Amino acid sequence: MPEVIAGIAPLRKRLALVRGRGASIGLVPTMGALHAGHAKLLNTARQENDMLIASVFVNPIQFDRPEDLENYPRTMEADLRLCETSGVDLVFAPAASDLYPREQLTFVESPLLSARLCGAHRPGHFRGVATVVLKLFNIVQPDRAYFGEKDAQQLAVIRRMVEDFNLPVTVVPVATVREEDGLALSSRNKHLTREQRTVAPVLSRALRLAADRIERGERCVESVRSQSLASFAPYPEARVEYFELVDPETLQPMERIDGPVLIAAAMWLGPTRLIDNVLWP
Ligand code: PAJ
Repeated sequence: MPEVIAGIAPLRKRLALVRGRGASIGLVPTMGALHAGHAKLLNTARQENDMLIASVFVNPIQFDRPEDLENYPRTMEADLRLCETSGVDLVFAPAASDLYPREQLTFVESPLLSARLCGAHRPGHFRGVATVVLKLFNIVQPDRAYFGEKDAQQLAVIRRMVEDFNLPVTVVPVATVREEDGLALSSRNKHLTREQRTVAPVLSRALRLAADRIERGERCVESVRSQSLASFAPYPEARVEYFELVDPETLQPMERIDGPVLIAAAMWLGPTRLIDNVLWP
């Protein structure tokens, strides 16, 4: 099993030795409940760094709904086994009192990038994400940090934070891992009933449909969007929260497609919220 460290001071001490040897450090931040999507981040990072660190921390300040934080799956033993098979050297698993010994009074805000998509429906979420990731970067001081394209808005916020604050870390994006029917892997998929699970792939199909239409020459956003939205019609239980075409870097909406576009959507199935996106081209 990989070494597990909870405290910040012992971790810093351990990493100072590693850095002193000139070894490179890769960090994969997670909230646990690890699955094959996380494993791909870990495997990619394993190949590019001397030391591989996974952090496992369910970050309270990024949850906008208390019941979501409460119900978040906690599966530390299975997580450690997956970390072991993925070649993780060290798991940083702090308690909330390690990362937030006192009330956090300082936050990273990215209002423009948080205004739309998930940010519009989850107040405070990206401020909580950016704040904890900056803390992790400052504690671990990794050479490289790995994030999934599945959470495209999170990736955009973190990339821009690194650029705007001149952080000495390289952010490495990793492509979304999917089930055979297209559903993006997520710890939330566990909450789907069998029937909801059969409906769930409509989300990735609608995104693919949009990308295919653009590929075939359609340039009008509203026309792409309305056709994709129509594919949800046979599934009244699927409630679309948003389906948007935006600039991949600024996440701002566009009317005509005249360059790269991020097609991103969120959908509710019962109490479970699923997100997914496709980048074109
Ligand atoms: P978590 O949801 O555990 O995800 C950790 C990382 O795994 C994220 O970078 C996410 O994009 C990536 N990931 C999740 N599902 C994936 C999939 N199907 N394919 C590829 N990558 C996938 O995202 C978070 O935790 C938190 O917000 C965190 C960044 C750790 C800050 O608390």
